[in-house]
Formats: sequence, structure tokens, C-alpha cells
Amino acid sequence: MFTYVVPCLLGMEGLIAEELRGMEARDVRAENGRVLFGGDVSILARANICSRFAERIQILVGEFPARSFDELFEGTKALPWEDWIGRRNAFPVKGYSIDSALFSVRDCQAIVKKAVVERLKGRHGMDWFEETGPLHQIQFALFKDRASLLLDTSGTGLHKRGYRPAAREAPLKETLAAALCRLARLQPNHTLYDPMCGSGTIVIEGALMAANIAPGLHRPFAAERWDGIDRRVWREERERAAGLARPAEGFQAVASDIDGEALAVARENAARAGVTKYIQFGQADVRNFRLQGERGTVITNPPYGERLLDLAQADELTAVLGRVFQPGRGRSYTILSSSEEFERIFGRRASKRRKLYNGMIKCQAYLYYD
Ligand SMILES: C[S@@+](CC[C@H](N)C(=O)[O-])C[C@H]1O[C@@H](n2cnc3c(N)ncnc32)[C@H](O)[C@@H]1O
Repeated sequence: MFTYVVPCLLGMEGLIAEELRGMEARDVRAENGRVLFGGDVSILARANICSRFAERIQILVGEFPARSFDELFEGTKALPWEDWIGRRNAFPVKGYSIDSALFSVRDCQAIVKKAVVERLKGRHGMDWFEETGPLHQIQFALFKDRASLLLDTSGTGLHKRGYRPAAREAPLKETLAAALCRLARLQPNHTLYDPMCGSGTIVIEGALMAANIAPGLHRPFAAERWDGIDRRVWREERERAAGLARPAEGFQAVASDIDGEALAVARENAARAGVTKYIQFGQADVRNFRLQGERGTVITNPPYGERLLDLAQADELTAVLGRVFQPGRGRSYTILSSSEEFERIFGRRASKRRKLYNGMIKCQAYLYYD
């Protein structure tokens, strides 16, 4: 059994932990800014292919106290790098340091690289590494004088599912859009609305979730090229994930935006994601928003003052949302906003709030339901 780490932004830990437990990962532990779990290489492939909320999956090669360069060097050299890194593989190093005596990231980077090279020289019986083979990105994290040494298995961030090459301005990360759908308790028999859909991320992620389509089914992962993991593992996990998809007969999504160009992009993205049949697109001003039936799950992220509209316009739009998002049984509204004044301007206190980050912008998801 190996130990894996999902590094994450604050606020995502609980969702990621719950998701991993659902994938039969073992010993799942949520900490501040990361989630640890255990399992064999099948679980590693599964987490990469199936996770909707994780940004990347890393192997925890080891952890130890590191208050000096010596400790960092010896601790790193003692780890079994040869289990993963072969004779021709590339193994660049990056990392960060927070609240630690070893604060120079560049120096730590050089020490870690040197220690791994020393280890591999001995184990592989080589003096020189050409590093032309598959990428094994080493990551170190120094936090409060403790070093975690990790190997990245994902490559490109997992939010890149492959359906959104053409994002509009201010798009929401796919992982965050999926998190909003989960927080809103979106179900396969719901009608999902996003009346400010931009490039369509929320409705696309909602449809993928409703139809249980794994988000990473069609994209590659760095560790897929590693010799240390049998290719069969990836093939079997892809087949397993594909077998779990089911048509979401009772699901429908209604996506609109005031901007026709955004809608064109959203349509293309939905087609690439293979979920066009679930989504009805239309150009509309949210001022005229109405649910099509009595029930509905509305999830949206309005323009923020900082980015798309000026602050006064953003506030005016928030007040509009307070009027058009009418409460009622079977209805829920989830709005991601960075405004501290959101509830006052919207006009009602949220049933629940959840702190999240949209990129580097601190936000809250405001949930309204009866
Ligand atoms: C922050 S973006 C949404 C991004 C989207 N979640 C995505 O992933 O691409 C806000 C969207 O609100 C739209 N918008 C602004 N004012 C609007 C209005 N009055 N009615 C409908 N949409 C509006 C903008 O065109 C923009 O696409």
C-alpha cells in the first residue's frame, strides 16, 4: 500500500475526502490544505481518472523533520526514489516553504535534487542521468520545519478535463464548478439552471456528475508513462470508470447568458464533453429569469466587481438575483460570490455558507433552500 496526497485549496478538503472514500481509498485523512489516502496503484489511477474535485494526485515518498540543509539532504536521500524513478527518467524538483527555518526555496530545490541524484547513483549504478525519459516531477513541501517529499502523478492539473480549450473571461475552474454541484446536492433527477453560464462549466460539470461520467476518462496522466506502473492498471481503471456511466434520464440543464459569444463557446464545450443532449442553451438577461417548473437547482457565479463589471454594477446585479431567485419548496439557489456584502444586497440570509477560493479570490458559496 502507498500513501497519496491531494494538495488542495482551503475549503475543498472535506469534499475531496468524501469523494475518495467513495472510491474505496483507504485511511482517508483531511488536513489543512491537503488530503491523504492510501491504496495500491489501482486507487492511484482511479483517483486521477475519477476525481471531480482534486487538482492533482501525488505519491508521498516520505516525510521527516528538516530544520537544516543536512536534515533535508539526509532525509531525502534515505527515501526509496528508485522504486519509481528509472535510469532514464526526468526528475525535476519544485516546492515551497511555509513557516520553516529553511526558507530559501531555490536552495532547498538544489539540495533535494542532489540528494535524489546521490540515492539513484548508488541504486542504479550510474554516475550521470540524461533525464530524457518520462517526467517524474518531484515536489517538496516544507511546512513548520517538516518536509514532505512527493511525486506528481497527474501532470496537467486535473481541472483540465479536455473539453474547455476555449474558455471565456473569468471562467470557473472545473473542479470548483463540480464542488458547487456537490454542495448544492445536485441529483440525477434535478433540473439544473445557470443563468450566467459563461463558458458553461457549471452545467457541463453538473451533467457529467448526473450521468456519472468520470471527468478524466479521455485525458492522459503523467504516471501513465511510468514503467513502475503496469499499463494494464490504467486500462482497467478506465474501463471500470466507463462502465459506471449511466444515462441521466431525469436530468436536464438550462444554461443562459446575456453574451451570445459566451453561449457559442459553452455549446462547443458541452459538445466536446459529450453532454449536449442534457443542456438547453439560450441567450437571456438574468433580470428575466424564471424557473421552467416549480422545482429547480440553480447554481451560478455572477460577475465579480474585481474582474468583469465595476462594483456598483455587480451589486446591482446581486440585488436583481435577490428578486428573481424566488424561494419555494424543491428549489435551491447556490451563488458563488466574493462580495462580503452579498447577503445584505441579495436581501436574505443564506441557509448555509461555505468558504472557497476561485483561483486566488476568496469567495463564499451562499446556499438558499427551504
Ligand atoms: C463570472 S462569469 C461566469 C463564468 C462561468 N461560470 C464559466 O465557468 O465560464 C459571469 C457571466 O455572467 C454573464 N452576465 C453578466 N451580466 C448578465 C446578465 N444581466 N444576465 C445574464 N448573464 C449576465 C457574463 O456574460 C458572464 O459570462
